[in-house]
Amino acid sequence: MLATPYVTCDYSKVYEPSEDSFLLLDALEADVSWLNNRFDGTAPLTVEIGSGSGIVSTFLMQNNIPNMNGIYLATDLNPWALEATLDTCSRNDCKTKRFDVLQTDLTSAIRKNEVDLLVFNPPYVPAESVPYVPVSKDAVHDDEWLFLALDGGDDGMVVTRRLLDTLDLILSENGVAYILFCARNNPETVSSHMKLRGWNSKLVEHRKAGWEVLSVYKFFRK
Ligand SMILES: C[S@@+](CC[C@H](N)C(=O)[O-])C[C@H]1O[C@@H](n2cnc3c(N)ncnc32)[C@H](O)[C@@H]1O
Repeated sequence: MLATPYVTCDYSKVYEPSEDSFLLLDALEADVSWLNNRFDGTAPLTVEIGSGSGIVSTFLMQNNIPNMNGIYLATDLNPWALEATLDTCSRNDCKTKRFDVLQTDLTSAIRKNEVDLLVFNPPYVPAESVPYVPVSKDAVHDDEWLFLALDGGDDGMVVTRRLLDTLDLILSENGVAYILFCARNNPETVSSHMKLRGWNSKLVEHRKAGWEVLSVYKFFRK
């Protein structure tokens, strides 16, 4: 079993690693050999969208996933999450890695067809709408930034769907995306739609978490 990073941050502003985060780590661990083979001899660019505390990006760096030569970028809309991600990285001795963070909406600041490994644990909870982005870092209520971590609008899929629609633009030819879903996102239907759109779609891990069933799918070109 691979080491899990030590994480501590202000969970009134940043998403606390939970069962979804740990399922994503397990999915990436389960696929280590597959990823190593896929990116053997390259310097793969890994982008984590919505890094929160930084647990997932740090896990990847700490364990050299996909390989020793990796370049890493962690993004989030929440500026507190980016601070936490940098802090988690340095607490876990990943400072030697080629790594940076960026405040941006999904992949809007990412160059076309350059991402080799993309990872996203999105806001997936079905909700009336996707929360607005606070105008200032020091929002009126501390937890305003935190709302962005959870509510995913209609079917909990509004944010994830936006990302799936841009995969073709951002993934490299060999690129692969690992995305987390809850059962209410109807991941099997999403997976079928992606296949119809010409993608390979595979269930990597799934787990019951309380009354919820979480799953991680990977998507890559045929
Ligand atoms: C469920 S949390 C996951 C945090 C962390 N990756 C983990 O697994 O513990 C979702 C994260 O996505 C961020 N987020 C939400 N909408 C986003 C968007 N449009 N662009 C970038 N990040 C976003 C949130 O701020 C939050 O940090």
